[in-house]
Amino acid sequence: MDFDHVELLIGAVENAEEANAKAVRSTVLTPRFYTTDFKALDALDVSSMRAEWDTMMAEYEGDNNHDHFQRDAAFADEVRELMPKLSPEMRQEFLDFLISSLTSEFSGCILYNEIRKNVSNPDIKQLMTYMARDESRHAGFINQSLKDFNLGIDLGALKRTKAYTFFKPKYIYYATYLSEKIGYARYITIFRQLERHPDKRFHPIFRWFERWCNDEYRHGESFALLMRAHPELLSGVNKLWIRFFILAVYATMYVRDHTRPLLHETMGFKSTEYDYEVFRITSEIARQVFPIEVDIDHPTFRACMTHLVKIAVEDAKARKQGGILGKLKQGWCVTRAFVTFVRLYLLPVKQQKLPDQVRLAPTW
Ligand SMILES: [Fe+2]
Ligand SMILES: [Fe+2]
Repeated sequence: MDFDHVELLIGAVENAEEANAKAVRSTVLTPRFYTTDFKALDALDVSSMRAEWDTMMAEYEGDNNHDHFQRDAAFADEVRELMPKLSPEMRQEFLDFLISSLTSEFSGCILYNEIRKNVSNPDIKQLMTYMARDESRHAGFINQSLKDFNLGIDLGALKRTKAYTFFKPKYIYYATYLSEKIGYARYITIFRQLERHPDKRFHPIFRWFERWCNDEYRHGESFALLMRAHPELLSGVNKLWIRFFILAVYATMYVRDHTRPLLHETMGFKSTEYDYEVFRITSEIARQVFPIEVDIDHPTFRACMTHLVKIAVEDAKARKQGGILGKLKQGWCVTRAFVTFVRLYLLPVKQQKLPDQVRLAPTW
């Protein structure tokens, strides 16, 4: 993909106002804020998973990352030395990465915090308190790096002005489980790559990713236990919802990541190779909870993903063109994206038996 197309897709950020506007914007590809039916969450019962749940709660309480999200002495030096070396295009992709990562961390923070305030179930309340604590640290830590560029995001204003999407509780479980595990897979894949190639670590924030992603991993474990405690969420017609969410989350990530080819290239991988590694790890982990798995190696799966990127580029061009013709072209893109998604959905999936023990160690 050439940079003109990338610029159309991610837009350029030159000042704090534009950075804040970018975080507020909600599109198919940008992270959203969610709200849900809190009563249903209040009614969750984890007693059938009590032993694993209590072990996990003890880990949250132990808070092994309480001192992790502080910048060390070398951080500022590395920023000063490395950031002026970024090309303008690479700088835009990195800013896009920071802003969208911050928005999704903060999205988790807001959702968990709202659930915490609206439930009385002690297990859920306690879990949400810990997860909101972690996500607020993560969002704050990314924001410090945006402030190095004088592009800090006003989180209070973002909370007030960004649109909220209502999701049924079960959609929250599937989507949040997936985004936590994908978050882990994304961060650990970058961390391992830069561990092998320290010369490609173009910003110090990546040194923080290993301990950071263990928080995301644990958040995912919490949703795995919640779902396994309610097996009806994982059977019957809900298997169709699970398939839908896996594909929607994977496809969004794939298109999104292909708008940042330079970012991945600078770290020494291709966007496609990075994304399939993230899919592979996420699918492996998700065997703890999902009774089905999509076939990421199916040639049609791969062809559809590539096709969705192509459609996104055409859609961005049509949007830029504007007018009636632009609108018509955009409509055509939406139709083709829909058909492509249906093709993905109709691909055969692998069925699997869920393991007795839910929790897995993060060994990737
Ligand atoms: Fe996080
Ligand atoms: Fe998280």
